[in-house]
Amino acid sequence: MAVRSPNINVMASAALKAARGLLRDFGEVEQLQVSIKGPGDFVSTADLRAERTLKAELSRARPGYGLLFEEGGAAEGSDPRHRWIVDPLDGTTNFLHGIPHFAISIGLERDGEIVAGVVYEPTRDEMFWAEKGAGAYLNDRRLRVSARRGLGDAVIATGLPFRDRGDHPSYLATLSRVMAATSGVRRFGAAALDLAYVAAGRFDGFWEFGLSAWDIAAGLLLVREAGGFVSDCAGGQTMLASGDVLAANNHLHLPLAALIREGLRAPQSAT
Ligand code: IPD
Ligand code: CA
Ligand code: CA
Repeated sequence: MAVRSPNINVMASAALKAARGLLRDFGEVEQLQVSIKGPGDFVSTADLRAERTLKAELSRARPGYGLLFEEGGAAEGSDPRHRWIVDPLDGTTNFLHGIPHFAISIGLERDGEIVAGVVYEPTRDEMFWAEKGAGAYLNDRRLRVSARRGLGDAVIATGLPFRDRGDHPSYLATLSRVMAATSGVRRFGAAALDLAYVAAGRFDGFWEFGLSAWDIAAGLLLVREAGGFVSDCAGGQTMLASGDVLAANNHLHLPLAALIREGLRAPQSAT
């Protein structure tokens, strides 16, 4: 039986509380008020309500911790060592289209390092959680990344850039290489879940560029604690700052990284 620490309990119960509101809003999605943050970038009352609940719950349990929330931004706490990094609704576009694939993501940073993470998927009642040094879990089951050794058998998740975000030709060059080398590429639309699914061995790997810290803080720890490897495109550890993420099991990380680097070097040969 997995033993959840006090921090994980705080994070999981905050996620469950916010999820109740998200599920209510998801049932009446056409009545939600939606505003536009930027081209193709929406925020709804569901995002804002979930964020309010998470902020209240996490701050009540740990009053001094700093905050980095997607919608509300950063706030320093009286405790300079700890910070919550939170995406109240990852997969907003899915949510607004009635596609049941979205999550709440909560990471806990201590001295600049992620030490605990929770990704909760309300529609499937799946609680992914991890603590540094203690492993990764789905509900009470220990998680392990997939054992696949060959790229040819691998299913790899990704995030496609859209509208004016990202460098489309460079991305397409990486995509065409991964498409040609693997059993299939998936774009599900919630980066926190993409990483959680790598941790669970459902996907064999994942790559995306230009993500934000709240999309990946919890998911990076999930993959690591499930025995996988995460890096930026250059093999470094700048993921939270650069937003570039490549995650896979230890057999596939190097070959996947090589394909992606090859694509980034030669974007003109995408097609
Ligand atoms: C988005 C999702 C998506 C990724 C985008 C993110 P949001 O987060 O994680 O999968 O491709 O880059 O912005 O806006 O739904 O919280
Ligand atoms: Ca997000
Ligand atoms: Ca979000």
